[in-house]
Amino acid sequence: MKPKSFNQEPQNIIQSDSRNIYCFPTDVEDQNIEDVIVDSFGEEWEKFNQFSDHEINKIGNMYFDIIDDKIINSNTYGIDIGCGTGRWTKFLLDRIGFMEVVDPSKAIMAADKLLENKKNVRLSMASTDNLPFNDETFDFGMSIGVLHHIPNTEKALKHCVNKIKKGGYFYVYLYYNFESRGIVFKTLFYVVNTMRRMISRLPTRFKKWVCDAIALCVYMPIVLIGRFISFIGFKKIAKVLPLSMYQHCSFYIIRNDALDRFGTSLEQRFSKEEIRDMMIKAGLEQIVISESTPYWHAVGRKL
Ligand SMILES: C[S@@+](CC[C@H](N)C(=O)[O-])C[C@H]1O[C@@H](n2cnc3c(N)ncnc32)[C@H](O)[C@@H]1O
Repeated sequence: MKPKSFNQEPQNIIQSDSRNIYCFPTDVEDQNIEDVIVDSFGEEWEKFNQFSDHEINKIGNMYFDIIDDKIINSNTYGIDIGCGTGRWTKFLLDRIGFMEVVDPSKAIMAADKLLENKKNVRLSMASTDNLPFNDETFDFGMSIGVLHHIPNTEKALKHCVNKIKKGGYFYVYLYYNFESRGIVFKTLFYVVNTMRRMISRLPTRFKKWVCDAIALCVYMPIVLIGRFISFIGFKKIAKVLPLSMYQHCSFYIIRNDALDRFGTSLEQRFSKEEIRDMMIKAGLEQIVISESTPYWHAVGRKL
């Protein structure tokens, strides 16, 4: 499958060992991007860019439980918006025709490495408000853990869905707002969120140390207790514990997510119904929101 032409000339082209990377301006009129966040993600993905196939597959199966061959197959032209290291593109690449891989930060260089030998991808530096493709270009689009870090999530989702063809699908993962959780979870979130606001303002190197310390001293003990409870047979109890998702993850992933969680100054959270509502407003129908972690991941169809 051949990619379509860009709808604008790239501002710059970076030549890596594997390919050209096309750079498009992010300082557009009415921009919807937080530069500090983009820089901070660039740093994050520079530090965490080694994911084994085993790890990608294990977590990928959780993210993509609602994606079947009708949605993605060898005829699908897709776009990964806010790709980071490109790990989820890597997970899907054997099943998809071609993927445009897009991120405004220097994370794109990490994606270039992770997707080193892959032919059915093209990499671009661009943001949701200046995606260099005509509207109604793609059969499938996805944005995983991105739009809640953008000032106007609803508008960003609309911009992404505009690029999807009629009959195509858009998949999104957005942080949940603990709407169904009890007072203990909500209080815990309040404490964590206050910490995040403070930690995300620290100088980069110090921020990384603090997040590593949190991964080791806070995440790991809770995860190990959950693993033990699961091991002795109380799987249902283990599943409702905080950080239950990490019971299946390596310490590397936990460190990465601690930095993602505490190192980012702008983070928004949504209820399931708010996500459904934003997806409908963006032009999606037949919305399916997975009941499984990570909460909430959803897919809808543009009709
Ligand atoms: C938490 S990371 C998720 C990366 C990847 N999707 C994943 O799940 O591994 C968020 C990514 O969104 C990108 N991002 C931030 N603002 C953006 C924007 N306005 N448009 C597109 N991507 C953006 C960041 O550069 C970062 O790589």
